[in-house]
Amino acid sequence: MLYKKTLRLLVLPLCLVACGEVEDTRPGQPVAHRQRAFKDILNRFEPMGIQLRQEGYEAESFLVHARQLAAIKDAPWAYFGADTQYPPSKADDALWTEMDTFNAERDKFLQAADALLVAAETRSADAARAAYAPVQESCRSCHKRYKH
Ligand code: HEC
Repeated sequence: MLYKKTLRLLVLPLCLVACGEVEDTRPGQPVAHRQRAFKDILNRFEPMGIQLRQEGYEAESFLVHARQLAAIKDAPWAYFGADTQYPPSKADDALWTEMDTFNAERDKFLQAADALLVAAETRSADAARAAYAPVQESCRSCHKRYKH
């Protein structure tokens, strides 16, 4: 048992290097932190879309996801400080010269995530659907401009 666990702990970092992932070795790991924060956002957001598109709307679990999304929506932004553009970042350089526009895109997302929570609290499928779309649009819009 112990052997297996040790082996896994040894193999994982090797794979991270060998599989072509660049590790964030800078102090505080801002790139790794914001990427992790976005992955968490995706993990909260995606199940809502799956409900609306495939599985059918389930008001209580939709509300749980909407609450979780609202709770973590602020996480990535503090990690976009000056001098945080280096591998493995997938952000575009333009982000740092267009901070006002980037922040406006961010605020659209934050407001849409709040509105999604309000909609989820009504437990109406139509309201949830209508409020889901602007959040999705806010991800797409910012990625189109500032992520490759
Ligand atoms: C205001 C801009 C903005 C908004 C809004 C935004 N993102 Fe992103 N996202 C980025 C940027 C920039 C990156 C690249 C970060 C990096 O690699 O340094 C990114 C990266 C990601 C990644 C990849 C993380 C990785 O490990 O490479 C995922 C997944 C993601 N975003 C999901 C989402 C989802 C889902 C939403 C909406 C619910 C969203 N993002 C909203 C700007 C945004």
